[in-house]
Amino acid sequence: MSAQPEPHTAETFPPSADFAAQANATADLYQAAEGDREAFWAGQARDLLDWAQPFTETLDFSGAPVARWFGDGRLNAAYNAVDRHVAAGLGDRVAIHFEGEPGDSQALTYAELQERVSRAANALTELGVATGDRVAIYLPMIPEAVIAMLACARIGAPHSVIFGGFSAEALYSRIVDAEAKVVITADGGYRRGKPSALKPAVDDALAKGTPVEHVLVVERTGQEVSWTEGRDVRWNEALEAASPEHTPVDVEAEHPLFILYTSGTTGKPKGILHTTGGYLTQAAYTHRNVFDLKPESDVYFCTADIGWITGHTYVTYGPLLNGATQVIYEGTPDTPEKDRWWQIVAKYGVTILYTAPTAIRAAMKWGEEFPARNDLSSLRVLGSVGEPINPEAWRWYRRVIGAGTTPVVDTWWQTETGGIMITPLPGVTAAKPGSAQRPLPGVSAEILDDNGQPVPDGGSGYLVLTEPWPGMLRGIWGDMQRFTDTYWSRFPGRYFAGDGARKDNDGDIWVLGRVDDVMNVSGHRLSTAEIESALVSHPAVAEAAVVGATDEDTGQAVVAFVILHGDAGKGETEELMAELRGHVAKEISPIAKPRSIQAVPELPKTRSGKIMRRLLRDLAEGREAGDATTLADTTVMEKIMQGLKR
Ligand code: PRX
Repeated sequence: MSAQPEPHTAETFPPSADFAAQANATADLYQAAEGDREAFWAGQARDLLDWAQPFTETLDFSGAPVARWFGDGRLNAAYNAVDRHVAAGLGDRVAIHFEGEPGDSQALTYAELQERVSRAANALTELGVATGDRVAIYLPMIPEAVIAMLACARIGAPHSVIFGGFSAEALYSRIVDAEAKVVITADGGYRRGKPSALKPAVDDALAKGTPVEHVLVVERTGQEVSWTEGRDVRWNEALEAASPEHTPVDVEAEHPLFILYTSGTTGKPKGILHTTGGYLTQAAYTHRNVFDLKPESDVYFCTADIGWITGHTYVTYGPLLNGATQVIYEGTPDTPEKDRWWQIVAKYGVTILYTAPTAIRAAMKWGEEFPARNDLSSLRVLGSVGEPINPEAWRWYRRVIGAGTTPVVDTWWQTETGGIMITPLPGVTAAKPGSAQRPLPGVSAEILDDNGQPVPDGGSGYLVLTEPWPGMLRGIWGDMQRFTDTYWSRFPGRYFAGDGARKDNDGDIWVLGRVDDVMNVSGHRLSTAEIESALVSHPAVAEAAVVGATDEDTGQAVVAFVILHGDAGKGETEELMAELRGHVAKEISPIAKPRSIQAVPELPKTRSGKIMRRLLRDLAEGREAGDATTLADTTVMEKIMQGLKR
């Protein structure tokens, strides 16, 4: 669902005078960054992080498009996220309030976190993990997920977190691509009121042959798991046996911190590489300024899973770097009832909430009575991320969840950007529902036309980032050519984000959504090509085309068109289509399941054989198909339509 500018409403929501007066970020921040951008970022890096060896160089872009930020500095991410707060006397502050789906809870202070992370780092070392080795993490949203990430960072072993909803197949390809040595998983986690297994997917993935030597297994649900002696190790036992003392390994600023796989325009997921110093600077800076974090008094709650970039930057790194107290919730928002999040806000006195438009739209549908039966008065900043937020949802969010008073920050960014890039500042910007508005101080963005020229106010085009930023990806794991081709070739020298955007008459940016073959379903990024290749891996399917169709609930929905082999599906198409949907879930993830699959006699292709998805999208969205004159066979659309009517 694209947020469309509302040309006739000039309504904006400026911060209250009280909020503006106490805000971390004032209008001066824009000025500070304007003069000398690099000096501005160097200042942030020095103010917000502790460096084991201070840097003297800020940016080296001579190896463009790979940037080096703070290149001669050394630091450790886990030390910055945990130890230094303990050293500063804040060991008793709660770092994590964990709320399990069944209702169990636990509070972990910074001192306790330091001990657990140290033990886990020692346990990983004991299993043979050394600085530079990759560790795969496949866990539910439990404190161990954060502890595992920080334990890896502590020894300089890049982590590769794989979302717990991904299948064994997806897990396998990511483990192999990153050549992970160890997998950290759990027996399972709680979802929708029952235990949901994780370990079997790891067993299946490893059975296919991987470089993994050990599997560390957290006990969460107590469900039975199969056990491979010598390979599998119990997390609890390993941590108990390990020393609670561990010296963090200082690494170069450009040392890889993590790889996170995301969907691109081809079938193969991209391992987005982030390094240490620049990424952490951007994480801490954005978390402090965009959410106006006051670590002494705020209680922060981000609903993202650590399997996504939002969980990396705004659950694990940003909040902990800033010494925040945060809530982590394991389960779904409607378990046991549709007010679970609102109960959590009331129980912990959450002051800052960061979630996705799809969740807000679901809450709107469920009704105001659910938020209304909880005390939400502690909330003072609301954030949105993952997809364009439609103005109606924005207004509902502010009115119903934010008592009609809180700032709402619509934050645009990507796995690749590492942290927030375009957003209002809560104490400065007069917010416009549906618009991400302005690049943050220190960030340079433009909207370009087909010829690479900036569009005037009122125009639309391609969203690009024109200057390097500290949190930018440093490449695609194992495929630097793809890195250059994907992001830097459309407009040489500038980073093309893959999104279309519009500038309104005030110069504010409205992100309209992807202009490439990437879909955004409930804020989850999916590739059309990846789902197509999953479909054709089923014996009944000869060819497949997938499009993202506008959907009221999920923003976009996956709609597939398939050509079946010979007799496949004759007389029992419905069962076959159900089977194909299940097949996609098994090959990729239930989140990739097509909303509908239609059998067609042919697919619309250009003379060069490229599928014209635009025409299929017209059909999927119930419109008359647009201009079909560039098709190799102009009668194809007619044949498809006839088939669909039958
Ligand atoms: O299309 C944009 C959309 O999500 C894409 C990035 O997806 P991912 O890498 O999974 O990261 C999501 C969380 C940062 C973008 O290319 N997107 C993200 N935030 C917004 C958005 N679209 C519009 N408005 C946003 N605030």
